[in-house]
Amino acid sequence: MKTLIAYTTKHGSTKKCGKLLNERLKTKGKLIDIKKDKAKIKEYDVILLGFSIYAGRAQKEMINFINSNEKVLKNKEIGLFICCSDEEKSIEFMKENLPNWIYEKAFIKKYLGHEIHFNKMNFLERNIYKVVAKSKESYSDIKDENIKVLANEVNKLAGLNE
Ligand SMILES: Cc1cc2nc3c(=O)[nH]c(=O)nc-3n(C[C@H](O)[C@H](O)[C@H](O)COP(=O)(O)O)c2cc1C
Repeated sequence: MKTLIAYTTKHGSTKKCGKLLNERLKTKGKLIDIKKDKAKIKEYDVILLGFSIYAGRAQKEMINFINSNEKVLKNKEIGLFICCSDEEKSIEFMKENLPNWIYEKAFIKKYLGHEIHFNKMNFLERNIYKVVAKSKESYSDIKDENIKVLANEVNKLAGLNE
C-alpha cells in the first residue's frame, strides 16, 4: 500500500506534522509540498492531505489541488489533517474550506496542533495574528497523540496495526 502525504504550509508547521506522521507509518510514504513538488498521485492508494489556517482560510493551493485532481482522488483512501490554533474549530475549518465531497469521503479527519513563529510573520500577518493570539512568544504545540492516532489508522488500512 503506497501512501502520499501532500501538504500546504506557510511557516512550516504542517510540513513538520507531515514528517512526524510519516515517521510513524509502518510503510513510509512520500511527502510533498503542493506549492513546490509534483507527484503522480495515481500511483498511491492512500492520500493524506494537510493544510493550515490563516484568518479562517486554508491555502488556495490545497483547494486547487483537490479540485484539479477530483477524478483521481475520488478513487483513493483520503485522510485529512489540519494545523491551526483553534482546536475546537479545526474540523469546522475543514468543512468550510474544502469541497464537500472530499470532506465527506475522508476516512479520518485529524487536528495535529499548531506552531507560532513570530520571526516568520510579515507585518500584515503580525497584525492579523493579534486577533487570534494566545501568546506573544513563538511556541510549538504539536499534538503527538493525534499524529499517532492518524498514523495508526493508516497502518490499520495497510493491515499493519500495532
Ligand atoms: C497571521 C495568522 C493568522 C492566523 N489565523 C488563524 C485562524 O484564523 N484560526 C486559527 O485557528 N489559527 C490561525 N492561525 C494559526 C496558524 O494556523 C498556525 O500557526 C499554524 O500552525 C500554521 O501552520 P503553517 O506553519 O503550516 O502554515 C494564524 C496564524 C497566523 C500567523
